[in-house]
Amino acid sequence: MGGLAFVTQPLELRRDPLAFYERLAREEGPVARFRLGPKRLVLVSSADAVAEVLMNDLDGWMKGAGNAPLEPLVGEGLFLAEGDTWRRKRKALRPLFTREHVQGLEPIAREEAVHLLDRLDVHASTGATFDLHAEIRRATLAVASRGVVGTDLFAERPELGGALERMWQRASFFMNAGGPWALDLPLPKNRRFREDRAYVDAAIAEAVARRAGQPELVDLIGTLRDSAELRDEIMTFLLTGQECASIAVAWAAVALARAPAIRRAMVAAADAEGPHAPAVQRVVRESMRAYPPAWMMAREPRHEAGFSVAGEHVDAKTIVLLCVWNVHRDPAIWPDPERFDPERFAPEAPRRPKLSYLPFGLGPRTCIGMTLATMLAELLVAEIHRRFEVAIDDPPIVPDPGMTLRPRGGVPARVTRRS
Ligand code: HEM
Repeated sequence: MGGLAFVTQPLELRRDPLAFYERLAREEGPVARFRLGPKRLVLVSSADAVAEVLMNDLDGWMKGAGNAPLEPLVGEGLFLAEGDTWRRKRKALRPLFTREHVQGLEPIAREEAVHLLDRLDVHASTGATFDLHAEIRRATLAVASRGVVGTDLFAERPELGGALERMWQRASFFMNAGGPWALDLPLPKNRRFREDRAYVDAAIAEAVARRAGQPELVDLIGTLRDSAELRDEIMTFLLTGQECASIAVAWAAVALARAPAIRRAMVAAADAEGPHAPAVQRVVRESMRAYPPAWMMAREPRHEAGFSVAGEHVDAKTIVLLCVWNVHRDPAIWPDPERFDPERFAPEAPRRPKLSYLPFGLGPRTCIGMTLATMLAELLVAEIHRRFEVAIDDPPIVPDPGMTLRPRGGVPARVTRRS
């Protein structure tokens, strides 16, 4: 059935999903119903209504069919787990994401930042245009891998990055095609997906086996030892975590290249106060406001009776899309939303509704990696721009609304060393 949704999608949705969802919210309001082939969907676009869903997550909602395309990648990992399984996992994993534990990972992040700067130095000496997002992703993948399995699997196995990337692309396709059912079709790309998954699983299993000899380390493998679910958790962290962090850093670079005064002020602050200076924090926050990496979340009523949002009843088996993109660009809350303005997050900025900024989600299922992602993003943003002037060519870089909001086609950049 899922394929029907793909072929009967309104052309506008296929061509420009962000414009489609913006228009739907403008014309139909904060809770807008629509159909894609046989599927019923509800688009939720106001801060209040999105918060209402996320705050009632455990009673009324589950992740549902809208998140199912991730299942072939991350299985029963924390991101998709439900009910008691979710509760148990969240509790078991919490110690790995505390502020103290994240501080313990900062030296790893700093080392990988140095490696990133070294690679950018090579680009600076050739003067050639390169994909800055790809270089940033290499750094975030290395941090994720070292944080999770104690070693940089991507340096050990150069094919691993490509395999994960192809799996990610395939999952984005499943999302548009209506679900992971498509994986069962005898297509070359599906065969490739299974080969890639087997390769990635073998790499993870090998790292876990190696790590078993070092029981003193407090990390994911030590925490979930002997758990059959370990593979799913590792995939969740390797894929989703670093993906979002790399996107935040990439969009910040795009925005700063167009705003030299903001960049100069941020670099001066980072030089004086270090990478977590408030000016850097505000740039990262504004980057995730304007281009939220997790631009859309999805839920489905948990029970047969359905559930309500903003006074509207939603039937069971209806996909509820929570549009972070629309919330972050609501002009009533964020004046002139197109403008990149980190001062929106300054202490003296006008107050706005508390739940109107949600790059990491809200409520019980909010991002467990928020502190880690923020530490990493601030560090990379500060270090890249302290060392280099980044020039990004026209035409403008546009967002690619897939599973996350990547810059479409990467970020073609040239860098020169700051004197
Ligand atoms: C800037 C980077 C990141 C962004 C924007 C982000 C965003 C989000 C959002 C919006 C959610 C909620 C999804 C939902 O409610 O449907 C989420 C959940 C989650 N994130 Fe992140 N994330 C980031 C980085 C990370 C990192 C670094 C990790 C781990 C290493 C991570 C692991 C997770 C997990 C496991 C969940 C599921 C939590 C649960 O359901 O209990 N994320 N993330």
